[in-house]
Amino acid sequence: MKIIMLGAPGAGKGTQAKKIAAKYQIPHISTGDIFRANIKNGTELGKQAKTYMDQGLLVPDELVVNLVVDRVNQEDCKNGYVLDGFPRTIPQAEALDRALEALGQKVDYAINVEVPDENIVNRMSGRRACVGCGATYHVEYAPTKVENVCDVCGADLILREDDQPETVLKRLGVYHEQTQPLIQYYTEKHVLKEVDGTVDMEAVFAVIVEILGA
Ligand code: AP5
Ligand code: ZN
Repeated sequence: MKIIMLGAPGAGKGTQAKKIAAKYQIPHISTGDIFRANIKNGTELGKQAKTYMDQGLLVPDELVVNLVVDRVNQEDCKNGYVLDGFPRTIPQAEALDRALEALGQKVDYAINVEVPDENIVNRMSGRRACVGCGATYHVEYAPTKVENVCDVCGADLILREDDQPETVLKRLGVYHEQTQPLIQYYTEKHVLKEVDGTVDMEAVFAVIVEILGA
C-alpha cells in the first residue's frame, strides 16, 4: 500500500501518517523529519535545507527527489509506505511517478487532510516538538503528562523554528501556490481521497481506516 499524505502545514499529516504506519506496519517517511534530523546532525544537506526551511520556503526539488526515490527503493518499503511531506510540487510528483513506474508500481492513495487556513495558525502555535526523539504534541489537543517534558523520552519540548506565526503564514502561501495543485494531479489519477481534518485526531483516523480498509 503506497500512500501519500497531502494537506496544508499543520493539517495533521504527520499525526495521521504515524498512526497509519503503526496500524498497517509500513514505514513512515517524512521529508520534514529527514531534514530536521540532518540539521540536528549538522550534515551538508541539513545546512542547505535549513536556509529554506527557516524562511518557510520549500527546499529545492533536486535536494528532495533523489533522497525519497532512494528511500522508497529500500527493502523495508517493499510492502508499501506512507509519504508525509512529499511530493510537494508537480515536478516532485512526476519524479515519484517515474520512479514507481520503473518498478511497475503506482501510488494507491493520496489522502488530503483538509483544514481551513483559519485553524492552521492556532494548530501550529500550540504544537510542541521533542528535541530528543521528534515526537509531536499540542498544548491543548495532545498535551504531555508533565508540562514541556516528552512522554516518550523525557527530553524537553520546543516550538519549531518554522512555527512562528509569521513563518506559518509564509508556509501557507507557499502551500497554496506550489502544493495545492497536487490535489488536481491526484484527482486525475483517481487516487485522491478527501478527509475532514478539523475533527479530533481519532475521528480523522477512523475515516482514513475506512478508506484504507481495516
Ligand atoms: P514538514 O515537516 O513536512 O512541515 P509541514 O508540511 O509544513 O507539515 P507540519 O509538520 O508542519 O504539519 P503536519 O501536517 O504534519 O501536522 P501535525 O501532524 O504535526 O516540512 C517542513 C519544511 O521542510 C517545509 O516547510 C520545507 O521547507 C521542507 N520540506 C519538507 N518536505 C519538502 C519537500 N518535499 N519539498 C521541499 N521542501 C520540503 O499537526 C500539527 C499540530 O496540530 C500538532 O501539534 C498536532 O498535535 C495537532 N493536531 C494534529 N491533528 C489534530 C486534530 N485532528 N485536532 C487537533 N489538533 C491536531
Ligand atoms: Zn522525545
